[in-house]
Amino acid sequence: MIYYFSATGNSKHAAQVIAEKTGDTAVNIVDVLNGKVKIEKSEKTGFVFPVYYWGLPEIIKRFASLPEVRNSLGNYVYCVITCGATTGSADKMLAKKLGRNLDYSYSLRMPDNYVVLYDPSPKEKAKKFLVHADKELESVCEDINSFAKKRAGSTDGEIKSLFVSKLYDFCRTTKKFRADDKCVSCGLCAKSCPDNAIEIKNGKPVWTKSKCQHCTACINRCPKESIQYGKGTETRRRYNYNNTIK
Ligand SMILES: Cc1cc2nc3c(=O)[nH]c(=O)nc-3n(C[C@H](O)[C@H](O)[C@H](O)COP(=O)(O)O)c2cc1C
Ligand code: SF4
Ligand code: SF4
Repeated sequence: MIYYFSATGNSKHAAQVIAEKTGDTAVNIVDVLNGKVKIEKSEKTGFVFPVYYWGLPEIIKRFASLPEVRNSLGNYVYCVITCGATTGSADKMLAKKLGRNLDYSYSLRMPDNYVVLYDPSPKEKAKKFLVHADKELESVCEDINSFAKKRAGSTDGEIKSLFVSKLYDFCRTTKKFRADDKCVSCGLCAKSCPDNAIEIKNGKPVWTKSKCQHCTACINRCPKESIQYGKGTETRRRYNYNNTIK
């Protein structure tokens, strides 16, 4: 079984490619947590998700700590962590949460989606990243099929990662989110939020929790680019996998 979490499609794509080429099934962690999909034990267990602040998204910390997840791990456990640059020690943090060493971990560079802090790459540059990532995925799948034991990819920044990862919890506040006048009340932001942190009230999104995953699904997937985070995002591009490969 391959468990994935993905806000803007990078990790979902990686999980689906791995599932197809290794004869496995990719399931969305949000669906498992919402009781729509059951955890099953299989020979191999994979985790595919984005790195956040050189550490783990909150949802991954929670999921990997569940006794039913820990008890269902296969003999071969691996992770593929997607990133805009590098993943530091995120794989080791996952191993700690799971309570066992990983057999294989790979840090896969894909386009950066953290529009809250940075301007995502122009579309053509992002496309090139995706082509390169697909080539890397081919060898990742060969590794997994042959039960390879190694740690590879963009894992730089290991020591710094221990400090930077601690910032995530302070930074993942929702108070700077808002929808501007371009909002057409379609409700997609609320539907795409993995944290149920958005409600549509009087036709506009309202962030109902003080903290969220900061996954950027809402801001990057709004069809009108209406969602802003403070002032910085007004002039920045948006990124999501589906719009980039078109
Ligand atoms: C909250 C947040 C923090 C991030 N931190 C990092 C980071 O520390 N290092 C990095 O290389 N990329 C970082 N990124 C970029 C994502 O890991 C990367 O774009 C990932 O492939 C997105 O995956 P998804 O499309 O499956 O959501 C961050 C993105 C977000 C939303
Ligand atoms: S996705 Fe965008 S346009 Fe649709 S309701 Fe949310 S903010 Fe408004
Ligand atoms: S509010 Fe937006 S950034 Fe926060 S978890 Fe929901 S979709 Fe992700």
